[in-house]
Amino acid sequence: MVDIQVYRDSHFVGVKAVWEEAFPNDSPWNRAEVAIRQKQAVQPDLFLVAVDGGEVIGTIMAGYDGHRGWLNYVAVRGSHRGSGIGAALVEAAETRLREMGCTKINLQVRMANRAVTRFYENIGYGFDDVLSMGKRVAG
Ligand SMILES: CC(C)(COP(=O)(O)OP(=O)(O)OC[C@H]1O[C@@H](n2cnc3c(N)ncnc32)[C@H](O)[C@@H]1OP(=O)(O)O)[C@@H](O)C(=O)NCCC(=O)NCCS
Repeated sequence: MVDIQVYRDSHFVGVKAVWEEAFPNDSPWNRAEVAIRQKQAVQPDLFLVAVDGGEVIGTIMAGYDGHRGWLNYVAVRGSHRGSGIGAALVEAAETRLREMGCTKINLQVRMANRAVTRFYENIGYGFDDVLSMGKRVAG
């Protein structure tokens, strides 16, 4: 049975494996060693994992900036896709964000990964009439 839990250190190896499969060739600053350490310092309770028989099979990293909620690292092991785990992870994050007062949740999908928008549309997300911009501010 799949259980959704707040991330703990014992989940690290499993999360890293999920991400390496789901996001191959990701940027160095998105690697598990970096991203998890940073998330442990800010709203750690919004980093959730799906666990099946002790094995991490899915992840979601959410955040609330006081105005909008954000979803990142939505991923399920290839072997476990198509059985509702991705949707359950998003719903669990939505519940926690709503409890914090969040009224709108945003997410970004890479252009190269646009097929995944069908997953999000299936669970109620729509396209906003916006362009996404970003800037790296790390020294
Ligand atoms: C996207 C992802 C997390 C979905 O996880 P999942 O556990 O397979 O999704 P679910 O089984 O909960 O699917 C929920 C619904 O979306 C649909 N769906 C899932 N993936 C889909 C896809 N690629 N295209 C179309 N529909 C999809 C399912 O059929 C289901 O619909 P239903 O409720 O009508 O049956 C998973 O495919 C994944 O890890 N992909 C690689 C990482 C990735 O690209 N993440 C997104 C970054 S923005």
